[in-house]
Amino acid sequence: MRVLSGIQPTGRFHWGNYFGAIRQYIDLQTADQAYYFIANLHALTTIRDSELLQQLTFEAALDLLALGLDPDQASLFVQSDIPEISELTWILMTGTPMGLLERCHAYKEKKEKGISADAGLFTYPVLMAADILGYDSNIVPVGQDQVQHIEVARDIAKSFNHHFGECFVLPEAKLLDSSAKVPGTDGEKMSKSYDNTIEIFGEEKAISKKIMRIATDSRPMEEPKEPEVDHLYQLYSLFASDSQREELAGIYRAGGFGYGDVKKKIAEASADYFRDAWQRRAEMEKDSSYVQDVLAAGAKQARAKCREVLDRVQKATGLVR
Ligand code: ADP
Ligand code: TRP
Repeated sequence: MRVLSGIQPTGRFHWGNYFGAIRQYIDLQTADQAYYFIANLHALTTIRDSELLQQLTFEAALDLLALGLDPDQASLFVQSDIPEISELTWILMTGTPMGLLERCHAYKEKKEKGISADAGLFTYPVLMAADILGYDSNIVPVGQDQVQHIEVARDIAKSFNHHFGECFVLPEAKLLDSSAKVPGTDGEKMSKSYDNTIEIFGEEKAISKKIMRIATDSRPMEEPKEPEVDHLYQLYSLFASDSQREELAGIYRAGGFGYGDVKKKIAEASADYFRDAWQRRAEMEKDSSYVQDVLAAGAKQARAKCREVLDRVQKATGLVR
């Protein structure tokens, strides 16, 4: 079984990214073959600043490794290091109906809001299809928002296979656990678009400060509260053991507690949870050649696989003499 997923380097990773995606990628890295890449070509549709993109790409790799992505188990690479993907994208673009892409949400939402979209955003799902089909991926772990794109990759693969003969493996989406929807500092879904994130890495003091500023309701302290619906309780639950969680639930139901104490608990529990990763990151950061070496080795493995698939495609389409 071959597992593949990509993550865009469009900002520092936050708790939502970790519990909603990264942790689950790491759990899946024991598959026969796991490919994880940093989707810098996709990020180019939103980040148009060379230094920033370079920095975020490097940091994304550093973060993933510090969080437990093991380069001996999974190939970690940068999307643009595999030039075959761009050729495959073009080949797939021919034969992709415009209507299929018009229905894709990223483009559709922009268009509905009257924001002008470029061809990169419009054809984004085809690049993603190339990412997936280019490595004969069987399983693609993604969040709900990306499921539509896996369907597009399947449609493109089916139509290509029908036309040119069996070339591509049909991929399947593996929906990441959506119960792990992490609330942000305003209680809404944590997302960098809402400016309500708490980052995994950074100055411990700055992280604590953000935690202490999480919005709370104004009900009096004495009033008993239902834990499950409270975002502070939900955040604490991400880091706490079952018994710690039960203990806090009891405190909520009894009433007479302050939200400030819960925030302190979150700060402590999250720091304990990520402390090893913080340490690993600090060590790896001292030796930037380590990360570069991992990415180079990952790209070599991924490129060999992609070359094999592209050879098959070139042959099927008549692009070789
Ligand atoms: P953002 O919303 O901050 O822009 P992305 O869209 O880049 O984050 O998300 C990357 C991955 O992280 C996706 O697979 C998504 O499912 C997951 N993710 C992001 N935010 C959350 C959240 N608040 N809860 C659960 N998963 C999340
Ligand atoms: N579009 C994905 C996202 O924004 C990232 C991505 C690019 C991806 N190529 C992929 C995910 C291939 C899975 C498979 O989250």
